[in-house]
Amino acid sequence: MTMTLPEIDRCLRQLRLSGIRDTLETRVLQAQGASQPFLETFCLLLQDELDRRQSRLIARRYQQSGLEEKLTLAEFDWSFNPTLPRQACFQLHALKFVAVGENAMFIGKPGTGKSHVAKAVTYQAILQGHKVQYLEADDFFHRYALSPAAQREARLRSIFDCDVLVLDDLFLARTIPDEAGALLHP
Ligand SMILES: Nc1ncnc2c1ncn2[C@@H]1O[C@H](COP(=O)(O)OP(=O)(O)OP(=O)(O)O)[C@@H](O)[C@H]1O
Ligand SMILES: [Mg+2]
Repeated sequence: MTMTLPEIDRCLRQLRLSGIRDTLETRVLQAQGASQPFLETFCLLLQDELDRRQSRLIARRYQQSGLEEKLTLAEFDWSFNPTLPRQACFQLHALKFVAVGENAMFIGKPGTGKSHVAKAVTYQAILQGHKVQYLEADDFFHRYALSPAAQREARLRSIFDCDVLVLDDLFLARTIPDEAGALLHP
């Protein structure tokens, strides 16, 4: 049985294989031009589908993360503050602490780049495929304290249902309501 390209396209749509749909014509031309073995072409098409799924996953993870900017350590100016523990920042960026289930904490004076590094680590975790939540602690605990009791559990579940939870300005205690503070110091 042979199918035309439009028929194959319909099947691929039905099977939700959009990565293959997008590259099929190119891969067919490529295979014909180079007398490429079938298995080689098939592998390329499979890889196209996997690549598409991976990039969609990362886009979805970013959208759900609460991050509003894609910061990296590449644009970080280490000369701005030479006392920053550069090696420790890169160590965190390598995400081994996530793999072994440890916590990490940034402590430092205002404006020294804590949030910037934390956001870069968060974004790196997303690129690695982790499910991440980045929250301004004040904001989250305020919302939590103001929520009706019935919604609180769902709010908590939403942040605990992730691989990496980043709480920025955690101990900026100026505004965390007592009720929400009890969550941190039960
Ligand atoms: N070394 C740096 N290179 C590039 N940008 C930097 C650097 N340090 C800080 N910044 C920028 O300066 C601003 C303040 O940095 P950031 O918010 O990360 O500081 P912070 O330590 O979190 O401060 P705070 O304690 O007030 O929250 C941000 O826009 C950040 O991107
Ligand atoms: Mg900050």
